[in-house]
Amino acid sequence: MTVRQLFVTTALPYANGNFHIGHIMEYIQADIWVRYQRMQGQRVYFVCADDAHGAPIMIAAQKAGITPQQFVANIAKGRQPYLDGFHIAFDNWHSTDGPENHELAQQIYLDLQAAGLIERRTIEQYFDPEKEMFLPDRFIKGECPKCASSDQYGDSCENCGAVYSPTDLLHPRSTLSGATPVLKSSEHFFFKLSHPKCVDYLKAWTQDGKLQSEVANKVKEWFTPNEAGLTGLSDWDISRDAPYFGIEIPNAPGKYFYVWLDAPVGYLASLKNYFAKGGPAARGESRSFEDFMTSPDVEQYHFIGKDITYFHTLFWPAMLHFSHRKTPNNIFVHGFITVSGEKMSKSRGTGIDPLKYLSIGMNPEWLRYYMAAKLNARVEDVDFNPDDFVARVNADLVGKYINIASRSAGFIGKLFDHRLGALSEEGGGLVAKLQAQAASIAQGFEEREFAKVMREIMLLADQVNAFVDLHKPWEAAKKPELREELWSTCSTCIECFRLLSLYLKPVLPQLVSEVETFLGVAPLCFEDAATTLGAGREIGNYKHLMQRVDTAMLDKLFESDAALVPAVGAAKTSNTSNTAVRQDPIAKTTAASDPLAPGGEAIAAEIGIDEFSKIDLRIALITACEAVQGSNKLLRLTLDVGEDNTRQVLSGIAKHYTAADLVGQLTVVVANLAPRQMKFGTSEGMVLAASHAHEKDHPGVFVLTPWPGAKPGMRIH
Ligand code: 2FM
Ligand code: ZN
Repeated sequence: MTVRQLFVTTALPYANGNFHIGHIMEYIQADIWVRYQRMQGQRVYFVCADDAHGAPIMIAAQKAGITPQQFVANIAKGRQPYLDGFHIAFDNWHSTDGPENHELAQQIYLDLQAAGLIERRTIEQYFDPEKEMFLPDRFIKGECPKCASSDQYGDSCENCGAVYSPTDLLHPRSTLSGATPVLKSSEHFFFKLSHPKCVDYLKAWTQDGKLQSEVANKVKEWFTPNEAGLTGLSDWDISRDAPYFGIEIPNAPGKYFYVWLDAPVGYLASLKNYFAKGGPAARGESRSFEDFMTSPDVEQYHFIGKDITYFHTLFWPAMLHFSHRKTPNNIFVHGFITVSGEKMSKSRGTGIDPLKYLSIGMNPEWLRYYMAAKLNARVEDVDFNPDDFVARVNADLVGKYINIASRSAGFIGKLFDHRLGALSEEGGGLVAKLQAQAASIAQGFEEREFAKVMREIMLLADQVNAFVDLHKPWEAAKKPELREELWSTCSTCIECFRLLSLYLKPVLPQLVSEVETFLGVAPLCFEDAATTLGAGREIGNYKHLMQRVDTAMLDKLFESDAALVPAVGAAKTSNTSNTAVRQDPIAKTTAASDPLAPGGEAIAAEIGIDEFSKIDLRIALITACEAVQGSNKLLRLTLDVGEDNTRQVLSGIAKHYTAADLVGQLTVVVANLAPRQMKFGTSEGMVLAASHAHEKDHPGVFVLTPWPGAKPGMRIH
């Protein structure tokens, strides 16, 4: 049998935040498929990368006062605990800002240009006169042109669902500076997707039966002529003007590729980087990256979420085909994850924080199993329902599968010197039944029908448990005359347990590696389903392999962070002043200001950790901000510090920040200062900010923001 060569990716996550549960679900889905392929002896190259470019990352880095490269590197550093934690085994993780991607994206662009598919056009766009940059749609807000709802983004209205251009917004403003944007023209580069050769090619590529039927139908709509009688496919604006964090367009100074042009190229770049590191060579691949990617035997698959279907079924295959490259064999699209039927929300309590899941001791393989039990090959949303999770893990995974070993392994160890005996005809028949299911289970994995596979496996486990119930080993163990039957029953159970473990291995890699150790067998692969351990085989000591879910863990998982941090509640009763580090109680103890000292003032007198720990610093989300009537210094901030109610803090930063800068940002607040009655109202905390002691010569007040991942209410230690 020829070994398949599979190049597999998941979507590249934006490098502007940590993974959320949606990322983990996609990675688990792809990882199960990849592990299954490997168990079939196929050779898989499974890669991913950070999607590093684009305006939001550039702006977030600016706000953090670091370069976008540093910003992205910081995010990348945080990736591994998630991947290791959930046993997601990418062969390589790279970045779209790597040199391979710069080179590949530029080359693909030049090839598309040579194919006559790049066109330059001058367009008018909103420009922020204060920040001196063109504004991406998401950085323009105003009133919806359809329903007049305020505070709507430049591309669509969250109130009425209307989709429009930023220029349609009423009273537009830049969310970066608060300024009214002006229209400015600029030359942009377009990929001519509407060119008849592109349209014809993509119609054929998307309708040849490879795509999931819902995906193919959706794509068909995009080809449907609109009211103006034009094809639904519009040319694609692939350029952005400086300043932009991205890849420079060859021979076009000041122009960069739009992030979505170079993002999928990052799939190739990560694989190329893996080749450069010698990964494939170490696994027996003798071809170069270039040869590999032009070989007809290489299959290319991308796992993605439904929201990015357009990019992967139209732009990406067109980019590859017209630059004379291999196109994907398929795009595997999944739905979103919902929690108890609700769309996942970023606010606390409704989402599932993957690291929190791990940190409270929840077993990652419970989640892998649960996801597998819910995932199929259709584009359906997957619901995480806590009660359902507990039921499936406890009743099915532990109650049915693990239970088979718990009910039999001890007897084999204690009474039969760890050796398996001969099977009865009935026992042999049961084992054969499980073996006969291998082809159907394999097909289910291949077709990504994981839920169906899990059902099939649990039905087999039911049959084994019924066999155990019939032969009651716990009773047979008390009757010496039933010793042979006991031996045969328990040996049958162990044979069946091995087969079920083999079938579950793509989903439960860690647990099954422990099973392999316990059984003393080499790593299980699919062809082992045709074999048995056999009478006389010695097995190891059985240790319980998996605990049940304790429902208290789920309560903890969904508990808001505030509830985990009791000190915040206590802080609520205390007093507070306004803002900025200059009014910080620590700063008040400093010696007279000294221009040569760091920041213009000497370091304050030493304090002990006990004194420091009296100050309760918390992460706060700025949910609203308004000017204070009658004051040109103060802003009235509304802060979410993870408590039941928000707090109001008056902060002397009006000269330095606008509402548009602050709303939606995280900052640090002194949470246990006594509330302070001020002329303009009570201030219930103090937002931290940095400034130089000689502000006149060193202007600027800089509000502190935490690194991505911090949540409102978290304490700063
Ligand atoms: O939607 C997203 O999160 C994008 N960062 C996905 C990019 S996938 C690929 F094209 F890189
Ligand atoms: Zn509207």
